[in-house]
This record gives sequence, structure tokens and C-alpha cells, in this order.
Amino acid sequence: MTTPDSRKSILVIATETGVVEAIGAAMGSNSAVRVDSQPTTLAEMNGRAIKALGDYDVILFQTSPDDEADLAAIRTLAEARRGGTVLVALADGNIPLSKARALSHAGVDEVLPLPRVAAEIEREVARLGRFADKAHGGAGHQGRIIAVAQARGGAGSTTVAVNLADRLIERKGMFRRKSQTRVALVDLDLQFGTVGSFLDLPDQDTLLQLALDGTIPDANFLAQSMTRMASGLSVLAAPARFAPLDSLRPDQVAAMLDVLRATHDYVVVDLPRALVGWIEPVVQRADQLIVVTDTAVSSIRHCRRLIDFFTQDNPSLAVEVVVNHQARPLIRSRLHREAARALDRRLDHWLPHDPRAACAACDRGQPVSVVAPRSALGRAIARLARSTRAGLPVAAQTSAR
Ligand SMILES: Nc1ncnc2c1ncn2[C@@H]1O[C@H](COP(=O)(O)OP(=O)(O)O)[C@@H](O)[C@H]1O
Ligand SMILES: [Mg+2]
Repeated sequence: MTTPDSRKSILVIATETGVVEAIGAAMGSNSAVRVDSQPTTLAEMNGRAIKALGDYDVILFQTSPDDEADLAAIRTLAEARRGGTVLVALADGNIPLSKARALSHAGVDEVLPLPRVAAEIEREVARLGRFADKAHGGAGHQGRIIAVAQARGGAGSTTVAVNLADRLIERKGMFRRKSQTRVALVDLDLQFGTVGSFLDLPDQDTLLQLALDGTIPDANFLAQSMTRMASGLSVLAAPARFAPLDSLRPDQVAAMLDVLRATHDYVVVDLPRALVGWIEPVVQRADQLIVVTDTAVSSIRHCRRLIDFFTQDNPSLAVEVVVNHQARPLIRSRLHREAARALDRRLDHWLPHDPRAACAACDRGQPVSVVAPRSALGRAIARLARSTRAGLPVAAQTSAR
């Protein structure tokens, strides 16, 4: 396993020189980021695009969702992807949601609207480069913020976020007591979030509304906007309509998290795959980062980068690695030991591959604790929640309120 390069690398594939130039200009002289470009289309890159997966953290490519050859190329690329490379489509700003979905289904992580790309890229630079403000935001503590990230698309981060949040609610007896743990679940996977469908929630456009109004959310607004599940879990889902990634601002996300941690014991955040500018307030405030991964070398490498990215600005952050689709092995193989060494962390949490429980939960739009509590997955999630509670005990003053 090679040592991860701390510099971020970006490949821009675009036929319009203006696009490449705008991105180059936005990157300026940032030495933390390396930008290469190819004056072609993704489809014409052929095998070179697959090779680029191993060489770049982010591949940005200009495309039209009507271009079948590009869609086919995206599918091939997404299938070949084993690790952390983020695929970003640069498309016309007026792209309808159905077309954005087509790109997403083909395997794109994020869609950036073209006229605004330069601004978006500037934010990426700020994120990739350095974080100046090391302060933990907000005052008067508060509940614990748990950020859940994935080492690759489909690793299971939403499964973990939804079911961990559900399990962090302590069920004491038949009746809910006022001492019940208060848990909020926020889907910050703005463009492709699936928390709403995991929990069969009606469409919620709160985040889109915030993005459009530009207002700073307060406690009243959030209390009214969030869906409260029968279990007591409060959920803020991602918008059903297409929201450009740059439409949320860091100060809005910061305010939202500050309100939620003042009113909840745990705030579980499902992160988007691409690390956009408004992730910064999440990084600063997180008490724990959970990275969901498998043990493939490429996933472990991406895990390492994610962990480095989060901890460089928040050194006291607790990091837990959850290996999904694999039961805890009785004997650790060499691969497992190497993975633990590469991550500098023990692999303490394992969730077995349990399609029956996972599918039943998705089909019924309910947490695993409801549809299959005694399944292998259900029990493993309960263990993860117990250990999370032990590692991040709820402050007495928050649960007493
Ligand atoms: N341990 C598991 N066993 C079987 N299926 C799983 C498991 N974890 C997740 N899945 C399924 O894999 C798919 C992707 O999971 P999801 O949580 O949406 O991934 P991510 O949010 O990382 O993209 C979902 O259909 C989910 O039900
Ligand atoms: Mg997800």
C-alpha cells in the first residue's frame, strides 16, 4: 500500500477551453491541489479515464445528459471504480431534475451547474486546501454530532446513519419517558440523499427552501420542518427536487447544527460523497466521524484520506471505522491487519452482509430494528449503537432538559 499523497489531484475533462480556464483560474496558486486537464469528452477518453481513477481524487467532466456515449462511459467508469475517486459532472445549469437523476444513476457523485462552476470550484479549493478556523463552532454544549461518511458509493453509510440514529434512542419500557434520548438525523447528501426513502418519509424540501431563501434556520423553523418518527427520531431529509450543490452556505449549515445539538443529545449527519464547502462546519463540530467501508485496498486508501481530511482540522475528533458487508472475523487475515495498519486504527465494528434484513428495511421504509431486530444486521447495529453511546456519553444536562 502506498503512502497517500497529501496533495489533492483533480482531472478536468472538457472540450470548452473556457471551462478548463475558469477552473484553473479558480484554483489559483493553491499548492495543495494539482489540476490536470484533457481537452476531450469522457467517452473519448476510453480506457484512459479508467486509468485516471487510480491517479485522481476528483474527476470533473463536462457533459450533457443527452449524450448517450457519455452516459455509457460514466457507467463503465463507475463500475471500474473501487476507491475514492469522486466523479463530478459539469452540466448546463438549467438541467432538469430527471436528467440530473440520469447522471446520478449512471454513477456520478455530484452534478455542478456550469455557469457557476468557478464559484463552486473556489469553495472546493478552500476545502481541499486548508481550514483556517480551528475553533469548534457554537457555544454552550450540547449534544454530540456524529458524521457518517463512506469510503465508496454504496458502502452503506446511509444504512449506518439511519439505523444508528434509530438505535441511539434508548427505549425504556413500553412508554416513552421524558428522559428518552433525543436524536436528530440530517441528510446532508443534498443532491442524492436517500434517508427519506429509507424511512418512507413524505417529500421534504426544507433544505431546498433554506438554499433558495438563504435564511439562517432557527430552532422554530427546524422543529416545524423536521419529521418526527414514531420512535421519537427527528429527521431532516434531503430535498426531493434538484438543489445545486453550492446553494447551501456554510453559515446556514453551522446554524442548523448548532440549533440541533442544543436541542438533541445526538445529531447524526449523513454526508455527501463529495466534500463540498459547507462540509467545513460539520468537520469543525463533529464529535465523532464514522467511516463506512469494505476492506478493498482502494476503499481503505480513501478511508485514510477522509480520516486525514477530517482530523487535520479537528485533531480531537474520534474516528470509528465500520466494515460493512462482512461479519466480524474470528481470525483477522493479513488483509485485515494491513487495513488496520494503513488506517492507524483498530477495525472494531463489523456489519454482516445481510441482504434479507437490509432489503426488508428498505422495502418497508423502516429501520432494521423494526423489521428485523434479531437479524444478524440488526444485532450488529445494536452493538454499534451501544459502543457509540459508551464512547460518546450524553451529557446529563442535555437529557434532563
Ligand atoms: N450489511 C448489509 N447487507 C446487505 N445489504 C446492505 C448492507 N448495508 C447496506 N446494504 C444495502 O446496500 C445498498 C447501499 O447502501 P447505502 O446505505 O444506501 O449506501 P451509501 O449510503 O453508502 O451509498 C442499499 O440497498 C442497502 O440496503
Ligand atoms: Mg447514501
